[in-house]
Amino acid sequence: MKRIVVLVSGRGSNLQALIAGVETGSISGKIVGVISDRTDAVAIEKAKYEKIATSVVDAKTTRSHNHFETTLMNAVQQYQPDLILLAGFMRILSAQFVKFFAGSIMNIHPSLLPAYKGLNTHRRVLAAGEKAHGCSVHFVTSELDGGPLIAQARVSVKADDTPQTLAQRVLLEEHRIYPYAVALFCADRIKMDGGECLLDDKVLEQPLHLNQ
Ligand code: GRF
Repeated sequence: MKRIVVLVSGRGSNLQALIAGVETGSISGKIVGVISDRTDAVAIEKAKYEKIATSVVDAKTTRSHNHFETTLMNAVQQYQPDLILLAGFMRILSAQFVKFFAGSIMNIHPSLLPAYKGLNTHRRVLAAGEKAHGCSVHFVTSELDGGPLIAQARVSVKADDTPQTLAQRVLLEEHRIYPYAVALFCADRIKMDGGECLLDDKVLEQPLHLNQ
């Protein structure tokens, strides 16, 4: 059983999907801790409700970014995780942090990476007149939203979409593909090696396309 720590900042719908994946047995792991950088994250309430241990490393009250990171690193290490999942965690982790946990951090991002790294992806996709959008799960490296891709799901953009309607459809896909990728990791089927993602010991040339 892999020990999983989830880092959150907001409402925690991906956390909820991961909890469901563990409960149904599709993820062979245990969420041993949920850590937030905000005292008011709804995700922390969700974790408490599920009787999962929680920690808050309040970015507002820590002295400096360095101090925040050291405190965060200690909080993460306390749980002795095999896997760290970023699920709407709104802080950029330093190269040092990422290196320390290399190959053990995954993220879900609301775009078809490498397109639309960063924030406000739905609005930017609509502004560019894209026909397709989606979400990606990837290993985290020191390059923002740039680590090796594991899985993606595609969503068609509709003529009358708003950032909100598009976000909702993408989110449903996030809730499917993140637990799927985590299940593969927990089954020892995927790993990061030399800056690439290996599936069953073979380099994954393309991310897994998990459209229904
Ligand atoms: C998701 O859209 C995720 O892709 C992005 O932040 C959002 C978090 O949502 N990184 P939630 O807190 O999991 O509901």
